[in-house]
Amino acid sequence: MSAEQLPMVVPASDLPARVRIYEVGARDGLQNEKGAVPTEVKAEFIRRLAEAGLTTIEATSFVHPKWVPQLADAEELFPRVRELPGVELPVLVPNQRGLDRALALGADRIAVFASATESFAKANLNRTVDESLAVFEPVVRQAKDAGARVRGYVSMCFGDPWEGAVPLHQVARVCTALRNMGCDELSLGDTIGVATPGHVQELLNLLNEEGVPTNEIGVHFHDTYGQALANTYAALEHGVTTVDASAGGLGGCPYAKSATGNLATEDLVWMLHGLGIETGVDLGRLTATSVWMAAHLDRPSPSRTVRALSHKDQ
Ligand code: HMG
Ligand code: MG
Repeated sequence: MSAEQLPMVVPASDLPARVRIYEVGARDGLQNEKGAVPTEVKAEFIRRLAEAGLTTIEATSFVHPKWVPQLADAEELFPRVRELPGVELPVLVPNQRGLDRALALGADRIAVFASATESFAKANLNRTVDESLAVFEPVVRQAKDAGARVRGYVSMCFGDPWEGAVPLHQVARVCTALRNMGCDELSLGDTIGVATPGHVQELLNLLNEEGVPTNEIGVHFHDTYGQALANTYAALEHGVTTVDASAGGLGGCPYAKSATGNLATEDLVWMLHGLGIETGVDLGRLTATSVWMAAHLDRPSPSRTVRALSHKDQ
């Protein structure tokens, strides 16, 4: 890459030295695509993400294939990528059936996904919040007994398209329940991208007050209103070191129509490297991967960094 294609490095004080990027493009990104992406293209996408230096790459979901047909090939895809050296490959499971499918293929990073609101729990899991937590309890226990690390997502942490603003204590209750079940880390989902930085800080402060340590918290921002990077910065200032992002800014949620793409990994890496924060990611290779994927999806990447670095010629 030429000099103008790398950010100038000007560190800010009191930020983490290193950030773990939790890449969700192959799951959160591709679950929302209209057309089917061939399994081999998905596998190649994951391989290229690994070659670009990403070490946590969420691979797919063992959900009901009728609910998310885009990821119905989980059984075919996972074995093609599971031996990638030095890469963790978390998968989503919504229930016992999903866990059984994932463990049968040797998955050792499991993510359950809860909701802070009743409306989204119903739309996404066909359960109330408490019913879905009751489903997760034995799933988390069994995953842990099988030696897996478990992440607990909490969706709609800031706003919900049906219910509006989400009270912070409602989010904290679900976070605490997931933690008490044994989840090793939480991911705070701004599913529809409405959060702003003060809101992020307030939630993180409350979670700390409720006994959730910052090192167990990841953040998962969608970029609907262009706030994802600002929200990430607020989380970094708070000490968060796990940030979810999606290569090329792919993403959304089929069960929340107002959800658009995730924070683009390239935009995140540009900011982090500019702040002198280590990620292990090669921005040039990552951008080339997103340009390659955009060609497969037949539309340009929404990531500003991908567009800038590829000279708008994709
Ligand atoms: P349900 O219809 O209530 O399921 O769906 P059920 O438990 O009544 O079972 C009905 C049938 O489905 C049964 O088959 C089950 O075996 C089968 P039958 O006995 O009738 O022949 N079944 C399954 N088959 C395969 N795999 C499974 C499975 N489970 C049941 N895992 C269910 C409930 C949870 C399954 C459904 O609602 C579902 O799959 N939901 C997933 C929705 C989803 O994937 N959403 C996107 C991910 S979340 C997200 O994107 C947010 C996030 O990014 C964070 C953020 O941005 O906020 C993580
Ligand atoms: Mg998401």
